[in-house]
Amino acid sequence: MSATYKRTLVTSALPYANGPVHIGHLAGCYLPSDIFVRYKRSKGEDVMFICGSDEHGVPITIKAKKEGVSPQDVVDKYHKMMGDSFKEFGISFDIYSRTSNKIHHETASDFFKTLYDKGVFTEEITEQYYDEEAKQFLADRYITGTCPKCANPNAYGDQCEKCGSTLNATELIDPKSTLSGSKPVLKETKNWFLPLDKLQPKIQAYLDQHKDWKTNVYGQCKSWLDSGDGLQPRAMTRDLDWGVPVPVKGAEGKVLYVWFDAPIGYISATKELRPNDWELYWKDKETRLIHFIGKDNIVFHCIIFPAMLMEHGDFILADNVPANEFLNLEGDKISTSRNWAVWLHEYLIDFKDKQDVLRYTLCSNAPETKDNDFTWADFQTKNNSELVAILGNFVNRTLVLTHKYYNGSVPSADTYTKEDLLILEQLSAFPDKISAAIEQFKFREALAEMMNLARLGNKYLAETEPWKLIKTDEQRVKTIMNIALQITCNLAIVCEPFIPFTSNKLFHMLNMPVLKWHAAKTVTVIPPAKPETSFDDFSKMDIRTGTILEAERVPKTDKLLKLKIDTGIDVRTVVSGIAEWYKPEDIIGQQVSMLVNLAPRKIKGIESQGMILMASNSKGELSFIAATKPDFNNGSEIK
Ligand code: 2FM
Ligand code: ZN
Repeated sequence: MSATYKRTLVTSALPYANGPVHIGHLAGCYLPSDIFVRYKRSKGEDVMFICGSDEHGVPITIKAKKEGVSPQDVVDKYHKMMGDSFKEFGISFDIYSRTSNKIHHETASDFFKTLYDKGVFTEEITEQYYDEEAKQFLADRYITGTCPKCANPNAYGDQCEKCGSTLNATELIDPKSTLSGSKPVLKETKNWFLPLDKLQPKIQAYLDQHKDWKTNVYGQCKSWLDSGDGLQPRAMTRDLDWGVPVPVKGAEGKVLYVWFDAPIGYISATKELRPNDWELYWKDKETRLIHFIGKDNIVFHCIIFPAMLMEHGDFILADNVPANEFLNLEGDKISTSRNWAVWLHEYLIDFKDKQDVLRYTLCSNAPETKDNDFTWADFQTKNNSELVAILGNFVNRTLVLTHKYYNGSVPSADTYTKEDLLILEQLSAFPDKISAAIEQFKFREALAEMMNLARLGNKYLAETEPWKLIKTDEQRVKTIMNIALQITCNLAIVCEPFIPFTSNKLFHMLNMPVLKWHAAKTVTVIPPAKPETSFDDFSKMDIRTGTILEAERVPKTDKLLKLKIDTGIDVRTVVSGIAEWYKPEDIIGQQVSMLVNLAPRKIKGIESQGMILMASNSKGELSFIAATKPDFNNGSEIK
């Protein structure tokens, strides 16, 4: 990302509201976009995440016909269902809107009108198939016939699903209307076309600036531009009765092409979310626009929508379109109509609260560069051999031992060994490695690195064996467990974009607030609060301000200093373990806080008559606590 961007606008393809959400949807664009956005938020960047239901177009009307209800009933039902599924799986849209909203109809209508007034469209009269029994023009999906390329008898008017060819309805052999079963006739109709042929040089120039896009995306765009006669004009209006009415005279009974209005849905949803400053996200050159989509949407987001935005003139264009390929299920293409899918709402019935297992499996096997397959066997392996055996095992051992040895509080690290320093160095490299992969939309790689961090933790525990060492070297075990907790805390931070439910649990178990990305590497593990104490017990302690008058090392020790302290009451001798952090000559005159009624005790043969209070961080570093205002004379009480 270039340094000139101030904010990022992330859109995720608006799914058709004609069925529930399945794993193919999640793997294709909702999970990658969510990972990206969660990561950006964790970095503290300004990012907005937009989505909503695509409620127009033929898929909706077909579904309505099938269910014997109105298109509005269909979209109401599925909009709610899809929004709920996304929420349940932690897809953290800032808004999940819908294109049947008034604001969307107005925005799409105005957009069309602007292009119309600018004279962008060409008007063309073409012959379209018409069903004389149903008395309506037929969208391509309402016509079936025999594929001229492979003889499949069930090809659609726009595509043969058997051989994958893109077709024109007029190419079909023996066309049939799916509405009435009758043979459709060709009839003249007027529509408004976006002259992509004339716009090709501009689109070419735009794509030339984005050779860095994923190869699958750039390659598909290039093949559209380079194919045969290049880009062809495309109708932006349709003879249908479900959609945004075309806002010009002579277009009665026609609606905007669903692929004209749907991407404008990103704009209307932003308007709905941020009525006062939405333009910042769509018109300011310092905004970076990124569309997450599946591969069947590439031409619309990389060619047609940018062409619309260019001709309108006010808008920024996408800086990247990281499209994924398709996910298959057990070797077969996922299909809503054939009911061959894992539906998210059904998954949750079988695997309650296991959203992260699916998120993890889908990300680790995401179709980033080629189509991929989801299998239940792989799902089981990912859960058992990775989430449980690596991540769960490490975190569990660390937390169980911390509770067993230290009652759940974080032990301070003592001296680091060479091995510790090496582990800490390796630990510190992970957040940047994961960042770099996410920034390049390589989510599988990023996730693998996250799991490698848990592997590092397991390796460290296996090599240091704190459970054995505890019998002979308690001090050393404190350092080991402190490092293991630092790794756990880093894991909680860097796993959040991928498995947010787990991250939350980890922070909860660590008794820490949720930490953001910048806290990784340099994490300080904050000890949990001690059990409640009574005011009476507290007030038994006599804590005073004092000043160090003299300081010298205690012979034959590394850590101890012998101090003379003016407590305001008297002058005392105190032995304090601060030699690693303070030189005797630097602390003469230092104000301290001191517990003055602690029973005296002998340390290295010297009677210590009190204790200096020090703040201690997770690295075991110590710091004096002094009054922050001047004129607090020795002997002032600390309450
Ligand atoms: O493929 C689909 O599900 C479309 N409804 C995606 C639309 S994306 C955008 F343009 F809204
Ligand atoms: Zn075919």
